[in-house]
Amino acid sequence: MQKRDLISITDFDKEEYLRIMELAKGFEEKPNQDLLKGKVVATLFYEPSTRTRLSFETAINRLGGKIIGFSDSSSSSVTKGETLHDTIRMVSNYADLIVMRHPLEGSARYASEVSKVPVINAGDGANQHPTQTLLDMYSIIKTQGRLDDINIFMVGDLKYGRTVHSLLMALSEFDNPIFNFVAPPELAMPDEYKRFLTSKGIRFFEHREFTSIISEADIIYMTRVQKERFNDPIEYEKVKNVYILRNKMLNNTKPTMKILHPLPRVNEINADVDENPKAYYFTQAENGVYTRQAIISHLMGLI
Ligand code: CP
Repeated sequence: MQKRDLISITDFDKEEYLRIMELAKGFEEKPNQDLLKGKVVATLFYEPSTRTRLSFETAINRLGGKIIGFSDSSSSSVTKGETLHDTIRMVSNYADLIVMRHPLEGSARYASEVSKVPVINAGDGANQHPTQTLLDMYSIIKTQGRLDDINIFMVGDLKYGRTVHSLLMALSEFDNPIFNFVAPPELAMPDEYKRFLTSKGIRFFEHREFTSIISEADIIYMTRVQKERFNDPIEYEKVKNVYILRNKMLNNTKPTMKILHPLPRVNEINADVDENPKAYYFTQAENGVYTRQAIISHLMGLI
């Protein structure tokens, strides 16, 4: 069987997105399935992570696989100057699958070209975070009952936020999405993504504020301003608290509307939102386990 990687969300087509949704539902109903018994998965995290790494490792454990790897590259031979090429070439002799997060855009694609075993991109710089997108889609289909006709507000750091880039591309495969981008000019959605939507005839709107217009939203997708991607700390200070979602702002939103956030949050969702039934971000993170079980099983041909 030819090896499959998941580096960009576009490595899967619409049919595969729907297949992952169906498999994730099955893993949510029955999480412990020994499909990875006898297999080793390497989790190589060159950047900090809580949810992505731990949900992957939970997914692997629930599938009966074994885990090797590192959560901090300073404990690896990277500190001695070992290249990404050499690390991946060697780890692909040890493991049956590599899950990697790295700060450099394009690093995951490069790793997939070097590796003999499938590579899953767990986030490469400001570029892509495809497994987050699939769990976001699973969260949308679970709460809205559909992936067509979704009016989504993406709020915050749309420039560096890789999750919104991947999600935009995936939702554009479905019928009649409407994208509302809420960001200051410094953090606006990059032109390449706007050109992509225009080329597909998909509607998008840009806003500086959103409190007066969120009554139409099916999903409000909040994002953290990505401090680690700023070269100048003063520029970060200027925009770090640009949008803060508060409970009182949700009064006129649809009863079915849900608030998503890839997490971690800093200040962009006030704690008074957490008990509102429209807050879905902690369940969204839980959905990551089922979705990542589905992705691993699909890529490795286990089901
Ligand atoms: N959503 C997400 O990628 O979270 P972590 O950075 O904690 O993995």
